[in-house]
Amino acid sequence: MANKITITQPDDWHLHVRTGNILKAVLPHTARQFARAIIMPNLTPPVSTVDRALRYRAEIIQAIPENTPFTPLMTLYLTDATSREEIEKAAQSEHLYACKLYPAGATTNSDAGVSHVSRIYPVLEAMQQHDLPLLVHGEATDSEYDIFDREKIFIEQTLDAIVKRFPALRIVVEHVTTQEAVQFVQTADANIAATITPQHLLFNRNALLAGGIRPHHYCLPILKREKHRQALVDAAVSGSSKFFLGTDSAPHLQQRKESACGCAGCYSAHAALELYCEVFDRADAMDRLEGFASFHGADFYRLPRNRSTITLVKNTWKVPSDYPVDADKLIPLKAGETLAWRILEQW
Ligand code: NCD
Ligand code: ZN
Repeated sequence: MANKITITQPDDWHLHVRTGNILKAVLPHTARQFARAIIMPNLTPPVSTVDRALRYRAEIIQAIPENTPFTPLMTLYLTDATSREEIEKAAQSEHLYACKLYPAGATTNSDAGVSHVSRIYPVLEAMQQHDLPLLVHGEATDSEYDIFDREKIFIEQTLDAIVKRFPALRIVVEHVTTQEAVQFVQTADANIAATITPQHLLFNRNALLAGGIRPHHYCLPILKREKHRQALVDAAVSGSSKFFLGTDSAPHLQQRKESACGCAGCYSAHAALELYCEVFDRADAMDRLEGFASFHGADFYRLPRNRSTITLVKNTWKVPSDYPVDADKLIPLKAGETLAWRILEQW
């Protein structure tokens, strides 16, 4: 097995960067490896208008380190009140690339999300018409549903209906976590794709709950059983163009994670590509990394593939135990642990 690999520079198709000082702390981590990233709109207040998305984009651009070519691809947060006019405006903007459906209450900052998907059927109709992709947080939210079943139930109750009603709508099932989701995407038409995170490829739910509660492994959708992790790895390394890289790197300060009611999200931007390397290397599939990380997402979004390259070497390094943000810290995924691959050079 080769211990050096050069691939086309990758993109991150699902990323949270927040605002203010957290944004300034995390963006350099993403920009050192990815050329572009789909920026999630779950701020408070949510990025639910094109004007807000453009203002948010300007703040992100300010936080990009000098001489680092990085492009944020903005998204719109769908609410019950989103209008067809706003969708038309988004479709016409050169900076808006998709709209995000958060079922209300599903995850961090989703309170303003959609209460019932039928409320946004006119909006989905407009998106289909304008060929604007729909990004879905695929979890049913009714509190009576078991948290480990929420993705599966969402697919059966809601996603299936969306796909049937809007057959030409391009949809990304974000951060898939189950065998059922993988199968749904695999058997659907070519306009249905999925992102996969490093944490769902690396860990099963034991990493969250066995031997103590590990809040830095708490994210939504929640980690599942080993058979689901295995299905995700198989999908990621399969070479299928329906699956691509989306870290869902979701920074929260240490105090908010290590709490009696800790919030959901894993921070992975500090070593995103290196974490995916661990997975592909272990699966003896490093030759499939470039498709997953650099081609499939760009092709799905109908954007040009990057021309720059990035080189990784098998050369161990230790992940820092934390990254400071003001008086608080971000605790990264695999904090204090050793990773096998490191980025050698950039563009
Ligand atoms: C994300 C966040 O913190 O914004 N959290 C998470 O657990 N993944 C929101 C999300 O993508 O669900
Ligand atoms: Zn996310």
